[in-house]
Amino acid sequence: FNVPIAINEPVKSYAPGSPERDAVLKAYKSMYNSKVDVPLYINGQYISTANKKEMSPPHDHKHIVGTYHLAEKSHVEEAIATALEARKTWSQMPWEQRAGIFLKAAELIAGPYRAKINAATMIAQSKTIHQAEIDSACELVDFLRFNVQFMMDIYSEQPESTSDAWNRVEYRPLEGFTYAVTPFNFTAIAGNLPACMALMGNVVVWKPSDSQVYSAKVIMDVFEEAGVPAGVINVVFGDPVMISETVLSSPDFSGLHFTGSTFVFKELWKQIGNNIHNYKTYPRIVGETGGKDFIVAHKTANPRQVATAIARGAFEFQGQKCSAASRAYIPKGIWNEVKEILTEQVNSFKMGSPEDMSNFITAVIHEGSFNKLVKYIEQAKADSDAEIIIGGGYDKSKGYFIEPTVILTTNPQYTTMHTELFGPVITIYLYEDDAFSETLKLVDSTSDYALTGAILSKDRYAITEATTALQNSAGNFYINDKPTGAVVGQQPFGGARASGTNDKAGSPQNLMRWVSTRLIKETF
Ligand code: ALA
Repeated sequence: FNVPIAINEPVKSYAPGSPERDAVLKAYKSMYNSKVDVPLYINGQYISTANKKEMSPPHDHKHIVGTYHLAEKSHVEEAIATALEARKTWSQMPWEQRAGIFLKAAELIAGPYRAKINAATMIAQSKTIHQAEIDSACELVDFLRFNVQFMMDIYSEQPESTSDAWNRVEYRPLEGFTYAVTPFNFTAIAGNLPACMALMGNVVVWKPSDSQVYSAKVIMDVFEEAGVPAGVINVVFGDPVMISETVLSSPDFSGLHFTGSTFVFKELWKQIGNNIHNYKTYPRIVGETGGKDFIVAHKTANPRQVATAIARGAFEFQGQKCSAASRAYIPKGIWNEVKEILTEQVNSFKMGSPEDMSNFITAVIHEGSFNKLVKYIEQAKADSDAEIIIGGGYDKSKGYFIEPTVILTTNPQYTTMHTELFGPVITIYLYEDDAFSETLKLVDSTSDYALTGAILSKDRYAITEATTALQNSAGNFYINDKPTGAVVGQQPFGGARASGTNDKAGSPQNLMRWVSTRLIKETF
């Protein structure tokens, strides 16, 4: 197959005085004050509804940047009907034409829409420009480009034939329609979940998170300009329970592509189970859910490398990445040095609104997150087996700001060693230098999740032992690095246990879930 070779989109630096920095700041200012109104998007039409909700940036929650429309049940039913109608032509479209649309979408984001999609992510998810660039520009572009390559990998997988039996396989779209539910924290995931299903010939009902409406609107504009035909991807905002119940009770529902909380994913799975007798086909279920991601340092680890892995792994993106480090196990022998460097690094982080490009930490995405984090911070202040050694402050008078916080505990089962907090808080447990093997058992058994993890060591035997002992503890396992920052085409991403179905975003394995294979044998 002759398709453009996928390359990772280079990350721009947004240096002071650069044209790209000016362009983002200009887009940010105008979008911040534009009072955007975002309707639903069904059958290629923007649909206004009777109910609207206001949108505010997490770093300035009294400021209204616009409104979005909430779907009623009839809108969701219309989205399903329209998707099924569109399927008649979309599923027959040659793959080159589908690929052309999504490759064009990638180039639109990399070029003319870059400032706008970054600004939308900065406003709606309170990301710094560097965080927005990595997420909404580069990672989304990478997904769109590499998906085409992954599609080719899948299509080129063909069985053996003989002189009297020509065997061939067709990778058809699923029969029916698919459902994408996307999270509050990543624009790239928002775009990728519906896009990769549509690329494989499926039609989609897409429910973005309420915190993602602004960037979802930019993605829809891009898809429309790139030529996604009417009805192929339909967007509904609003009550998640009503929307999911309506979608999952349709007999034509054939696949769920979900990123979000473990609780919601299990609820949706239960509903699918309850409806199983009504479906025409067994639905595909793919979910990427929570994490309680770890860093384990061995006594031979470089203290600066450990401190940096913690500071970057736990606090970049305000810790609001499913991959973010949230528990660490450090040998006592290197702790003093690690602590000193970590304190110095974290104290150098400036916190504030994303339009001030010198800020490293911004607000957490919504009030629910803020309140949950404050609860655990206050509990750590009160508990005798925990102490806050860095940070611990918070302020929601203007935005939902939580200081990067390090809790030190003497109890390896302390509540924040196993509860997912999803914010800039990490808990550290110190172990005796010679208790490495026991500590690995603790790492494996303390959490229900298994998304990401890291081992830092100069000793290859220790690395080997950790790699074996933690083989089921993380779907993405990093040696001498932080446990975050998977790049499409390089580190396929996902985990098992309570972290998801491990169908690896950014790989052919994920796209394979969105096709139903037909084998054709022909004899002569
Ligand atoms: N894919 C993102 C990371 O690895 C979530 O950090």
